[in-house]
Formats: sequence, C-alpha cells, structure tokens
Amino acid sequence: MGFPTIRPRRLRATPELRALVRETTLSPKDFVYPMFFNAALDAPRPISTMPGVSQQPLSAARELAKSIKERGVSSVILFGLPKTKDERGNSGLDPDGPVPRAIAEMKAAVPDLVVMADVCVDEYTDHGHCGILRQRRDGEWEVDNDATLEQLSKMSVLFAKAGADVVAPSDMMDGRVAAIRTALDSEGFTNTTLLSYAVKYASGFYGPFREAADCAPKFGDRAGYQMDPGNAREALREAALDEAEGADMLMVKPALSYLDVIRDVRKASNLPLGAYNVSGEYAMLHAAAERGMIDYKRAMMEVLTSIRRAGADFILTYHALEAAELLG
Ligand code: PBG
Repeated sequence: MGFPTIRPRRLRATPELRALVRETTLSPKDFVYPMFFNAALDAPRPISTMPGVSQQPLSAARELAKSIKERGVSSVILFGLPKTKDERGNSGLDPDGPVPRAIAEMKAAVPDLVVMADVCVDEYTDHGHCGILRQRRDGEWEVDNDATLEQLSKMSVLFAKAGADVVAPSDMMDGRVAAIRTALDSEGFTNTTLLSYAVKYASGFYGPFREAADCAPKFGDRAGYQMDPGNAREALREAALDEAEGADMLMVKPALSYLDVIRDVRKASNLPLGAYNVSGEYAMLHAAAERGMIDYKRAMMEVLTSIRRAGADFILTYHALEAAELLG
C-alpha cells in the first residue's frame, strides 16, 4: 500500500520508448525560411541583431535556393529591400524589383521549391508604414485602408506573375484577402495560394526585422492596424473573416507570446495554420546563448516543438536551416 500502481515514468525509461510515445515531432518540411533580398548589394550583408542572417544580393538567389533544398527545407518566404522608396511604395510594383527577381531566380534554379512572397508596402514606403497615408482633419496622418488595398492587389499579381507559389499579405488592412483574391483570379492566377497573416499583433518582438528589412516606421507605430496584444477573441474574428474572404492558409504572428492564440485558431478553423517565430524571438535565444545562459540548440528545438504542439502546421523561422541540420 502507498506505492503508485500507475507510473507515467515507465514510458520515459529509454530514448526509444520516449520516441514511440512522443506526441509532437518536427521535420524540416515544417519550416519556411525567411530571406531578405537587397537590390543594392553585391555581397551578403550580415544583420547585426540576427546572428547568422544576412541581407542577400540577387546574384546569390540561385545558389541559395539549391543549398536550402539540399538541407531539407522546401519552403522560403521572401522580403525585399528596393533601391528607392516613396510615399506610396511604388518600387514594390517594379517587375525588376528585388522580390520578383529573386522569385524568378529561385524558381528557375529549384522549380519545386515553395516560394512565398510577403505582400506589404512597408519595405517600399519612405515612411515605413504598412499602407498609404492620408491626413486626418486634425492634421495627424493615418493609414488609408481602402487606398492601400489597390497597391497590395497589384503587388500580389506582380509576385504571382514572377512565379510565386504563395502570396502572403502581412499588412493587416481590412478586406485585403478578398481584394487580392479577386485581383489574382481576374488576372488568371486562380492557382496562386493565399497565406494570410490573419492574426498579427502590434508586437515589440519585430525589432530586429525592422533593421533586416529597413522598414521601421519613421513616426508613430503600427497599433492602428496591427492587433492589440490583450485580445484573443478578436483573433478568431480576424481568422474567420480571412477564411470567408478566401484565404487558403492562416498565420498567427508572433508565435511565442501567442501560443494560446495558435491553439484557439487551430480549434476554430480547418485551414492549414502557420505561425511566425519572429526576429525578436530568434534574437533572444542568441543573446541568452552568447552569455552562456542557455544551450542554444536545445532551447531552439524546444521553442519549435512548442509552436507545433500549440497547433501550428508549419513555422516561419530563421532557425529553419540549423534545425533541419539537427533533425538530420
Ligand atoms: C511587415 C512585416 C513585419 C514582419 C514580417 N512582415 C514587420 C512589422 O510588421 O513591423 C516581422 C517579421 C519578424 O519580426 O521576423 N511587412
């Protein structure tokens, strides 16, 4: 008497048993690798806040596509740094811009690589906001939702023409999924997949990305269009709207402070669900590991497992290549 008859530890006795009963596993096929192409570069430029990540020159696109595929990762998402920026982000509509060119090069080198393109004007506007601005009566500037939809639609068609498999709007304008789907379909791109950054929070964890993509807003912040971190019910509303507007896949971003939201969206929608393990989450692990506070590889695998366990089917992550290597 007094001894337990039910002993969960029995299943933890050996690595083989633990593997047999493991509920959540990772594969390199779960990862989407984010990449930054800078039209002005001839050689990679390291991003100081994201060790191991660089802005890339277009001349490297083909080789990068091959080496990523060889390392077992079969999806990438592309961001662009154009040569010029203006108020409306018109360089985002240039067929010779960094993203259309990188898409074409990567697809030519590795046709079965899944190439996704981030759709947002912030990388192309001189003010760094995710939309076209208009002045309010009180003199303040705000992002004009409906004027931005047209720009996003044109950008999506441009990326589809260049050969993108997936367009992924990250701007958080209302109605953009329907607008983009209509534009793609009317141009004949009925098979271009739409991954919506459906649930995107106004987060402090995007800091390093704004250096990577050179898109920090020059004034104000993004709280007028990205979601408030306190809201979870609103996430379900955003997800349902994007599903109704025709999104093929949904995403929650960031991942780690929003694992509950990933779980909620997983339960509420049957669409494939991604999560973005963002730049600040990546930088945190590096900073802690550099100071000897954590074991980088172990913490990385635990983080990625937690995102899958919460309910994400796939993960956009700067750890993709390192994690793929560990998974063998
Ligand atoms: C906007 C966009 C951002 C990220 C992806 N798309 C930045 C933002 O909303 O400020 C962040 C990604 C990251 O932090 O890794 N185009």
